[in-house]
Amino acid sequence: AQLSQDQLKAEVGRAAIRYVTPGTIIGVGTGSTVAYFIEALGEMPSPVAGAVSSSERSTAALRALGIPVLDANEVDHLDLYVDGADEIDPNGCMIKGGGGALTREKIVSSLAERFVCIADASKRVDVLGTFPLPVEVVPMAEASVVRRFAAGVLGTSGTAVLRRNDDGTPYVTDNGQHILDVRGLRIDDPLAMESAVNDWPGVVTVGIFARQRASLCLLGTPDGVATLTF
Ligand code: A5P
Repeated sequence: AQLSQDQLKAEVGRAAIRYVTPGTIIGVGTGSTVAYFIEALGEMPSPVAGAVSSSERSTAALRALGIPVLDANEVDHLDLYVDGADEIDPNGCMIKGGGGALTREKIVSSLAERFVCIADASKRVDVLGTFPLPVEVVPMAEASVVRRFAAGVLGTSGTAVLRRNDDGTPYVTDNGQHILDVRGLRIDDPLAMESAVNDWPGVVTVGIFARQRASLCLLGTPDGVATLTF
């Protein structure tokens, strides 16, 4: 029988454990794929010493399994960061932030030597941009950022829409800011786009991970887990 997307996520979540050294402190991302990875962390015979977490949600899951969670300020280097992605391109550049945790994900992954991305095969794309690009913004800057995307940046333009909760209120990040989801972009040069959008006043974080691209991706495919290195 064909494995469901959820089963593929579970497989890569568990497979990432082989990159984890017992007794070390690791960086942990956010999302439904990472949830499986956290579950597997809790089952390691010799556990990790602790984790730096990228969201309130992952922190709660880690603590529930008895894994100590450290503040990012207490750590100056991590060997490993494990996280999912919304899209990953042939060079390991990613769109992230579908789950809203992009800023902390960028902070924690920046501390790590190696980014191991865990994703089901649907995330693999040739060019980033089909998945709406999340951009965390200071609310006061929303309209100007919307206008900048509409006017175009690096030869592509997009429609930015404020992310809302089911009840219609604006979605608020763990950092108290808002998120714009930008549709219609074709991101041919992820590194240049990351820098360009980061430069705009009021942008907290853009969900392009090109500077901190994946060094390795465990991709869940119907034929098993494929290991892509970049
Ligand atoms: C969270 O902010 C995102 O960056 C996630 O890493 C991304 O949305 C992947 O999530 P899933 O594992 O749930 O697909």
